[in-house]
Amino acid sequence: MRSPLAPEWLTVPDDTAAVDHNIFSSGVARDDQEVTIQGVSVSQLVERYGSPLWVLDENDFRARARAYADEFNAAFGPLCGEVDVYYASKALLTVQVAQWVRDEGLCIDTASGGEMAVAMRAGLEPVKIGLHGNNKSDDELHLAISNRIGRIVVDSLAELDRVHHMAQELGITANVMLRLTPGVDASTHHHIATAHEDQKFGLSLTPAPHADTSVAYQAVHKAAASDHIKLVGLHSHIGSQIFDSQGFETAATRMLEFIALLAEEDISINELDIGGGYGIAYTEADDPAGPAVIAKNLAEHISQEITRLDIACPRISIEPGRSIAGPAGLTIYTVGTTKTVWVEHEGEHYPRRYVAVDGGMSDNPRPVLYDADYTAVLANRISAAEPAFSRVVGKHCESGDIVVNAVYLPADTDDGDLVVVPATGAYGHAMSSNYNMLPRPAIVAIKDGHAREIIRRETTEDLFAREVEL
Ligand code: LLP
Repeated sequence: MRSPLAPEWLTVPDDTAAVDHNIFSSGVARDDQEVTIQGVSVSQLVERYGSPLWVLDENDFRARARAYADEFNAAFGPLCGEVDVYYASKALLTVQVAQWVRDEGLCIDTASGGEMAVAMRAGLEPVKIGLHGNNKSDDELHLAISNRIGRIVVDSLAELDRVHHMAQELGITANVMLRLTPGVDASTHHHIATAHEDQKFGLSLTPAPHADTSVAYQAVHKAAASDHIKLVGLHSHIGSQIFDSQGFETAATRMLEFIALLAEEDISINELDIGGGYGIAYTEADDPAGPAVIAKNLAEHISQEITRLDIACPRISIEPGRSIAGPAGLTIYTVGTTKTVWVEHEGEHYPRRYVAVDGGMSDNPRPVLYDADYTAVLANRISAAEPAFSRVVGKHCESGDIVVNAVYLPADTDDGDLVVVPATGAYGHAMSSNYNMLPRPAIVAIKDGHAREIIRRETTEDLFAREVEL
């Protein structure tokens, strides 16, 4: 029965055993009892690698990476030439993950010296690496410039000066893109919207009060005047987990209008990176378009705009992160304590079942950071019990330690059962912590039906690894 406590979008499932392929990776199925990933059952995985466990469907990850490259090239190729896809590695990065990205022919977007180091360790050619960051350190800039990476995405006028001076000292010409803020307020959680004026990223396209020109315009001229900077293009990223194409289109229009303005001064911009941010399905409420539709719509829009503005199409690049890694991952948890609380709602009391699992905000801080919704299924067996309105919670010492805020799980879900939370591939491991001194789970990758650990589980010993005098 539907709970009056449930959010509007949540429906009571007809079948609590079903796995929705809009949310789960393509390799996930259910045998006569268990959830399997490419034929490997969740109980086998937990037996071999422990719980909680991050699982990556490697075939699915690779297929999504290829799909972005193929669909964007199909849509933009005839119009603007080859599209480079920079996998936004902040979503999920290990050396092996970076190798998958390299094998599939993609480039990598990094946001720190550490991410760059992993990409290089994975064997990516420096020219296929981009470096972002609103406050890059000297060491990070030095690593990027001296390795001659493909693009340093410069975020401020001050940084442009720093890059110029460092490149001059090294006797090198640095490849620079300028990150601009096109003034778009993307419809997403405010912590992950990045192109409106009042936030820390980028160079604004809007002139300040009493100024004749924008800082974006000043930066282009500064870069053009430097003999140690090669301006390879312009960049915008409007935010993350976005479904509405309007924000991307408005940003593209403003960027192209700026490129047209520069063209009048004979400054030609050869590449436009339109960033990442494509939303994925975490629950039944989400209905993402997918790379084919996104690419087609954007290509149509950009085609119209370059005709209107009478400019040549710049080469296009994109930076999807979540939409490649997110759906490919899932987390297996083991259930411990369960309890039912009675919650008052409009004068009546209704039950909410709390199902506590062996992880939580240390392996996925997204619910507590962004009120992010997820879903879960009972994964080690099929239950005939009624769906019970439930909240999956973690084991941390905070009431906000929620894994899945609202979901109908079989009423007999209990101690020792396994639950699977899908779509945890992006920004889970990447943002994980040792809060409450919990060792982080292993990551197991499954390719063509074979499971292998790519990141081992942390041990209690690891928790002492950085203690200085023991
Ligand atoms: N490019 C730039 C410049 C970015 O800042 C980001 C994400 C991306 C690409 C990739 O965006 P994606 O395609 O993954 O949406 N921790 C947050 C997301 C932060 C995103 C930061 N930048 C979350 O868990 O929702």
